[in-house]
Amino acid sequence: MEDTSLFLVNISIGHPPVPQLLAMDTGSNLIWVHCTRCDSCKTKIFDPKRSSTYIGISNSSRLCQDYAASPSYNNPQYDSQCSFGIRYEDNTASSGVLALEKFTFLTSTGGTVEIPNVVLGCTLEFDGGPGGNFNGIFGLEAPNEHHFVSRTGGNRFSYCLGSIRDTSYIYNQLILGSGAIIQGMSTPMSTRNNHYFVTIEGISVGDKQLAINEYDFYYNAVIDTGTTFTELVKSAYVQLVEEVRGLMDGLLEPAHVGNGDNMLCYLGDLDKDLKGFPIVSLHLSEGVDIDLDVEGMFQKTPEGLGFCMAVVESKSMNVIGVMAQQYYNVGFNLDNMRVSFQRIDCELLED
Ligand SMILES: *[C@@H]1O[C@H](CO)[C@@H](O)[C@H](O)[C@H]1NC(C)=O
Ligand SMILES: *[C@@H]1O[C@H](CO)[C@@H](O)[C@H](O)[C@H]1NC(C)=O
Repeated sequence: MEDTSLFLVNISIGHPPVPQLLAMDTGSNLIWVHCTRCDSCKTKIFDPKRSSTYIGISNSSRLCQDYAASPSYNNPQYDSQCSFGIRYEDNTASSGVLALEKFTFLTSTGGTVEIPNVVLGCTLEFDGGPGGNFNGIFGLEAPNEHHFVSRTGGNRFSYCLGSIRDTSYIYNQLILGSGAIIQGMSTPMSTRNNHYFVTIEGISVGDKQLAINEYDFYYNAVIDTGTTFTELVKSAYVQLVEEVRGLMDGLLEPAHVGNGDNMLCYLGDLDKDLKGFPIVSLHLSEGVDIDLDVEGMFQKTPEGLGFCMAVVESKSMNVIGVMAQQYYNVGFNLDNMRVSFQRIDCELLED
């Protein structure tokens, strides 16, 4: 499922199970849900007091130390419970306590699978904006053997995404564990600060190669389904903007529309006016390409008067967000630390 900026998964938590819509996020390691209040959530929030399978984790347990080491802090307010605090790049922050809970997943064949004792963050304070219409975050970066991904068997997962704009498409999928679909070309990755990084070796617009500085891109592009746009460091971003401006010159009128003062925007119709716009490719190491077509490169403005480039300037690392991953099946193998990208209509994937 999606909310037109991220893809959501529907997972039931606790007993009796309460369905929760969580944003699928390869860019963080914690799975958390709102436990006290959430004004913008579309579905009922999780109340630990009503769940018979909720087990709090104490701050002195080994699990607390192992699991929560880096992103967490101990907040005396929560007494001797194991606390966490996580701040995201958009500056929203979530803090609360860690617990073990039972997760219930729907399977592709229509059944359910129950997994007990999954580490769950129960968010007691959320800071910064409405936080979207989802109940929490499904962090897929696996920091250690306690993480859910590592416990599914196979130490792998995959997801297949269709168009982020098409809310009626039913073939988007996330597969955890040994049934993950890992096919097509793969590229090496490494983990750092709860992120999966790959190397971008080149960026091209049609036949034209941008001159990128390899040091800016060496294991410095994070695969992040928790971010909507693609982000590039300044040196590459500036060249991309120049290319796009050149291609639009005389055809479409630049505009200050939508939400972005710093974004490159034009008046016009995304679907009609960009026919023939060249493919922008991110060339990852060992021959893996991520191709951004018009849908991956541009986003309609909310008022519908125009569109903006869905690639923005980054101050630190490069980010391969969810828009760049539309129409791809992406397979993570954490045993050999490789990730595969295959351009495909998810409906055609075989189980
Ligand atoms: C989530 O899944 C549950 C069944 O597990 C279902 O009853 C509910 O309607 C689903 N929620 C959404 C928003 O699809
Ligand atoms: C656990 O919490 C208690 C009560 O706040 C505190 O006194 C103690 O130092 C904490 N222990 C650890 C290991 O943080």
